[in-house]
Amino acid sequence: MTNWMHRKPIEQADMAGHHRLTRTLSWWHLIALGVGAIVGTGIYTLIGVGANLAGPGVLLSFVAAGVICACAALCYAEVSTMIPASGSAYTYSYVVLGEVLAWVVGWCLILEYSLVVSAVAVGWSGYAVGFLKSLDIALPLALTAGPHAGGIMNIPAIFIIACVAGLLIAGTRESATVNAVLVVVKLVALLVFILVALPHFDFSNFEPFMPYGFAKHEVDGLQRGVMAAAAIIFFAYYGFDAISTAAEEAKRPERDLPIGIVGSMIACTVLYICVAAAAVGSTPFTAFANSPEPLALIMRELGQGAAAAAVGAAAIIALPTVILAFLYGQSRIFFVMARDGLLPARLAVVNARTGTPIRITALTAVIVAVLAGLIPLDEIAALANAGTLAAFIAVAVCVLVLRQRDPSRARVFHTPAVWIVAPIAILGCLYLMWSLPTTTQKFFLMWNAIGLVGYFIRSAFVKRPAAA
Ligand code: ALA
Repeated sequence: MTNWMHRKPIEQADMAGHHRLTRTLSWWHLIALGVGAIVGTGIYTLIGVGANLAGPGVLLSFVAAGVICACAALCYAEVSTMIPASGSAYTYSYVVLGEVLAWVVGWCLILEYSLVVSAVAVGWSGYAVGFLKSLDIALPLALTAGPHAGGIMNIPAIFIIACVAGLLIAGTRESATVNAVLVVVKLVALLVFILVALPHFDFSNFEPFMPYGFAKHEVDGLQRGVMAAAAIIFFAYYGFDAISTAAEEAKRPERDLPIGIVGSMIACTVLYICVAAAAVGSTPFTAFANSPEPLALIMRELGQGAAAAAVGAAAIIALPTVILAFLYGQSRIFFVMARDGLLPARLAVVNARTGTPIRITALTAVIVAVLAGLIPLDEIAALANAGTLAAFIAVAVCVLVLRQRDPSRARVFHTPAVWIVAPIAILGCLYLMWSLPTTTQKFFLMWNAIGLVGYFIRSAFVKRPAAA
């Protein structure tokens, strides 16, 4: 009989044996993995969706989502160094909150990681198609958009997922090094954007600052407002949790994880606020709201064709780093859940040559590619956010529970002012969850209901090895 409340002992979270992942990553790999995962479609593409929902107030959406994410990141840094094992919020929940809640969190993480991969692939496809068009190479709509947009399937999105999956299957270390180079490209392009846009800064572009108000409410058939935009913009900030999924492969997790998580989060928050200020300050928001390539479009609006091409090219070259980080994280979450017996164990086999779980990586890639080929970007991103918000809430709760239950256990990183920071993370994430579109909330509840039914059926009928 399964004990739903069973908690995995903290010492056993980091398991040995043939299911062990190889320790190949150092702190700079982790920072690169973090920034690589954080800076992506959120700032490159969803800034346009956010502007459409909030107007110039999207700047405030970036600040609100950034503050909430920073609080969650500080909680992640404490828990991930206490439990330096693969599996991120799923593993922490298994240790702290018990099996059934861990399953719910793992199920939410599957939503997060897979949909982020799909969303970024669709964002990449938008920039790639736009770039090819500027070279007079027009791909047919049928092959560049899903059925929602009058096409059949988004083939470029599928193509990029296949390429990144191949890289991961070839071995983690090589992938992380390639990733580091591409991260630099992505950051330089954003700096170029800021520098080119700033001379065009005009305060009148900020008036009115919040044309659709603050809290989520319906305007012209859409749920808008600064917080409705923040609930989407939130997508731009996460990714640092992908670092914690690599904990088991970090050479010195106790030192490197906090550096990776807090460092990459602070850098990205500052960068985003500068990019958003430059975008909204230089161009009326209506010009780039909902564009598939808003940053390139702003550059063109400002008469900077070369900068537009550079930003577009950088997005094409570098957005795959986000796909890489999340595909990597996703395959490891599947891997750990399978190792714990919550998913079929034969999926959790590590390849002896590369030290990576090839079967799960390939399976994940196929599923996310199909989703990317068929579903629209904003809907995918909103759902990915719902899964992530749930995981962040779980981690903030874990920090508080561990402080109460196990106050004397050694902590490499202490979340500062934890009784203020963790509740801000929890309440902030709940508010963002409430600010998501109602259809997303309904689908999210359905997803979890299906997950729980699956869990109880599996518990009742499938015999598992004794829980760790
Ligand atoms: N933060 C990542 C992005 O914006 C998921 O693409």
